[in-house]
Amino acid sequence: MVTFLLLHLLFMIHFYPEKGRILASDPRLQGEWHLLHRSIGISAMHMQLMKNNKVVMFDRTDFGPSNLSLPGRRCRYDPSDEVLKKDCTAHSIIYDIGTNTYRALTVQTDTWCSSGAVLQDGTLVQTGGFNDGDHVIRTLAPCSGDICDWVEYPRLLSERRWYASNQILPDGRVIIVGGRAQFNYEFYPRNSSSSSESISLNFLRETRDEYENNLYPFLHLLPDGNLFIFANTRSIIFDYKHNAILREFPAIPGHDPRNYPSSGSSVLLPIYDKNSRVEAEVMICGGASHNAYPLAIQGTFTRAKSTCGRLKVTDEKPAWKMENMPMPRVMGDMLILPDGDVIIINGAGSGTAGWEYARNPVKRPLIYKPNGKTNNRFSVMAAASRPRLYHSTAVLLTDGRILVGGSNPHIYYNFTGVDYPTDISLESFSPPYLSPQHDFLRPRVIGVDEILSYKKEFSLTFTVPEFLKMGTVSVRIIAPSFTTHAFSMNQRMVVLKGGGVSSIGSNVYRVDAFGPSTPEIAPLGYYLLFVVHGGIPSSGMWVKIQ
Ligand SMILES: *[C@@H]1O[C@H](CO)[C@@H](O)[C@H](O)[C@H]1NC(C)=O
Ligand SMILES: *[C@@H]1O[C@H](CO)[C@@H](O)[C@H](O)[C@H]1NC(C)=O
Ligand SMILES: *[C@@H]1O[C@H](CO)[C@@H](O)[C@H](O)[C@H]1NC(C)=O
Repeated sequence: MVTFLLLHLLFMIHFYPEKGRILASDPRLQGEWHLLHRSIGISAMHMQLMKNNKVVMFDRTDFGPSNLSLPGRRCRYDPSDEVLKKDCTAHSIIYDIGTNTYRALTVQTDTWCSSGAVLQDGTLVQTGGFNDGDHVIRTLAPCSGDICDWVEYPRLLSERRWYASNQILPDGRVIIVGGRAQFNYEFYPRNSSSSSESISLNFLRETRDEYENNLYPFLHLLPDGNLFIFANTRSIIFDYKHNAILREFPAIPGHDPRNYPSSGSSVLLPIYDKNSRVEAEVMICGGASHNAYPLAIQGTFTRAKSTCGRLKVTDEKPAWKMENMPMPRVMGDMLILPDGDVIIINGAGSGTAGWEYARNPVKRPLIYKPNGKTNNRFSVMAAASRPRLYHSTAVLLTDGRILVGGSNPHIYYNFTGVDYPTDISLESFSPPYLSPQHDFLRPRVIGVDEILSYKKEFSLTFTVPEFLKMGTVSVRIIAPSFTTHAFSMNQRMVVLKGGGVSSIGSNVYRVDAFGPSTPEIAPLGYYLLFVVHGGIPSSGMWVKIQ
C-alpha cells in the first residue's frame, strides 16, 4: 500500500500539472502493438468506423485475386479489368471490433483510390474509384445482423472521381472535391433543381503540377461553415454555397507539395466550443520532397519532409508556424486521439507515394501535443513490426485504440518475392493512455443520453477510481474519419462547453456539458463521446446529434 502510494505520488509529480511532457524512456509510455489478424484476406486501403462498432474496409477490385472468397459463390465479371475478367474473390470486408471477426462484403465495381463520408443517419456513402467504378456511388447502411452489404449506384456521379476528397456539410449533404483531372466539385445528394451538377473550381487547376501533387485535397469544415481547402502548397477558405474564394493564405513554407502523391497529412486541430468566436487551426505534417517523384522513378529515394505547419485560419493575419518532427515521414496518417493529442502513424522515411516508390518504413508512431511546450510536443512511440507503406491506413476505434491495416506498393497482390509484400494483416496500436498504470484515473461512463441537441445542456455520469479535482474533466466528441491515402476525411473533435462535476455517490460523478453550438461546429450525425479526466480518456460512447 505504502509503495503504491509512493509510486502514485511520484507519478503525480511527474505528470501533473506538467501534462505536456511524456518521459518516453518508460516503455509503458510508448504504447503497445497487437496483431489482431495475420490475414483479413484483403489489404485495407480505405477504412471507416461505423456507429455499430464495425469497421468497413476495402481495397481495389483490379489487383487480381485477394485471399478471401466472395460469399455465395458470386463472382465479378469485368471485361475492362486489367488482371481478372472473372474474379470470385472479395475486396471489401466488415470487421467487428467486439468479436475481432470479419466477413466479406460484395463490391462489384472498382473502388480504387476513392473517397467517402458518413451521412447523418450513419450510412457510409462512398464515391468513385477507377474504370467501371469511377462514376459509382455506393452506400453501406450499418446493421446489427450479418446482412448489410454494399448497394451500388452506377453513373450517379456527374464526373469521374478518382483521388477526390469528401466532407460532410452542416446541411447534411456531402461535398466531393476534385479528383484526377477534375477541377470541380459536386454534392451528394445531387441538387435536382440545379442545371449544372458539377461546379468548376479553378484553384484545383492552378495547384496541379507536373506530378499532380494536388490530389486528395485536404478539406476541413470550419466553424463558420466555410471550407478550408489545401492543395499542393496553397490553401483557401472556400464558400461552397456561392462558389467564392473568401481568402487565400500564404503558401506553406518550403516549396514542397503536401498532397498526394507527395502525401503529407492534415488535421483540423480540436475545436473548443466557446461563447466567443470559435477558433480553428489546421495542422499539416510530412510529405515527400518536391523532387521525390521524378527521382523515385529513376530509383533514387529522397528523404521525406520532417516539417509540420500550423495555421490558425481564424486569425486576422494567419501565418504558418513550422515545427520539426523527430524523423521525416511521407504517407503518415494523422488522427486525433480522444485526449486531444494527434498521432502520426504509418508511412516511409524516403521516396513518395506510388508504385514501388518508397523506402525506409517509419515504424514508430509519433504523438503530438498541440498545447505542449514549444520544442517539446512530440513523443516517439514503440515500433510496429510491419512496414505500412503506400495503401496503408489507420482509424481510431471506439475504445481509443488505433486500428492499422493495409500496405501494398505493388500493382498486384504480391505476397512473396518482393521487398514490401502486400500486407493483409490487421493490427492495433494502444496509445500510452490505455496503459494499466493510468487505470486509477480512467473514467468509465455509466449513463449518457444517446441524443444530443445543439446548445442544449445535458449531463452524464461516470465512475473513476480516484477523482483528482474539479477542472480536470472535459467532455468531447469525435467524428470518425474515412481514411485513405494518408488523409482522414471528416475527422473532427469538438471539446464541448461545460465540464462542471458534482459527486453523486461513492466514486460516481455527474458532469454537465452543452451540445455543440451549431451544425457548422459539428454537423448532424453520429459521434464518439469521450470523458477525459486528468488527461486520461474514457472509452467512447456513441451519441447522435440531431
Ligand atoms: C489464402 O491464403 C492461404 C495461405 O496462403 C491459402 O491456403 C488460401 O487458399 C488462400 N485463400 C484464398 C481464397 O485465396
Ligand atoms: C439547388 O439549385 C438551385 C438553383 O441553382 C438553388 O437555388 C438552390 O439553392 C440549390 N439548393 C441547394 C441545397 O444548394
Ligand atoms: C506481382 O505479381 C504478379 C502476378 O500476380 C507478377 O506478374 C508481378 O511481376 C509481381 N510483381 C513484382 C514486383 O514482383
